[in-house]
Amino acid sequence: MYENDPVHATQSVGKTQAKRVRTPDNAAQTKRDESIMDTNSSSIVSKRSVEKLYHTGEPEYFRYFVKKFQRRSPLINRGYWLRMRAIDHVVRTFLNKQSGKRKVVVNLGCGYDPLPFQYLGKHSLLCQDVTFVDVDYSLLMLKKLHIIASNPPLSDLLQGWRELSSQSGVLGRADHYLAVGCNLCDVDELDKILQSELNAEDCSVLFIAEVSIAYMDRAASDTVLRWAAGYDDGIYVNPRVC
Ligand SMILES: C[S@@+](CC[C@H](N)C(=O)[O-])C[C@H]1O[C@@H](n2cnc3c(N)ncnc32)[C@H](O)[C@@H]1O
Repeated sequence: MYENDPVHATQSVGKTQAKRVRTPDNAAQTKRDESIMDTNSSSIVSKRSVEKLYHTGEPEYFRYFVKKFQRRSPLINRGYWLRMRAIDHVVRTFLNKQSGKRKVVVNLGCGYDPLPFQYLGKHSLLCQDVTFVDVDYSLLMLKKLHIIASNPPLSDLLQGWRELSSQSGVLGRADHYLAVGCNLCDVDELDKILQSELNAEDCSVLFIAEVSIAYMDRAASDTVLRWAAGYDDGIYVNPRVC
């Protein structure tokens, strides 16, 4: 499970497990994972640009994840506006649908996207029986949780929040939120977490993969798609559009 995990690649993970040796292979993999995580830095800046320019007067959630505002070009802004609008449409339609079951929205490769906060903050009535699950590499998720904890407008939205001391797997949970650090190549681990934390098989589950599995090789992304499609509400994949 720790094969591609930059946190564990360089740390001892317990008395019974040997310290990982930094071989050329796993060093190269760690470098690849880090550059994949880095793609989030560009996405979040672009989304913040859209938030500031196109959503004036609405509560802002992207701002906490971007140190310095950068105005993107009109073409990038329009592309991201469309991308954000598409995700919002899919999530909102899912939440509005009567299912009689608990709903789970799993954001695969969520990066710093504040989707759970947007819904909990702006559409709390829609979120009564909903859990939002953020999944990304552990290293990125730990940074995201640090930003959340440092900004009360975000952390105040997480009722019953408990951050765990783990470095991977379930990193924290709240009444309507679960933070998971997991490499998407390890679908078995992710499935185990969703089952044990949420009994996901008894829920309506929507998976979102917004420009995330695009960075995985074909066999690995096929595995994710096949797995997610086994849940009853399936998966919305946003390919790389901009
Ligand atoms: C371009 S960013 C998009 C972030 C977010 N979905 C958005 O649209 O704002 C791609 C994200 O997918 C994550 N990702 C890609 N491959 C992954 C993998 N194998 N395991 C976990 N996360 C992955 C990256 O860490 C990164 O946060």
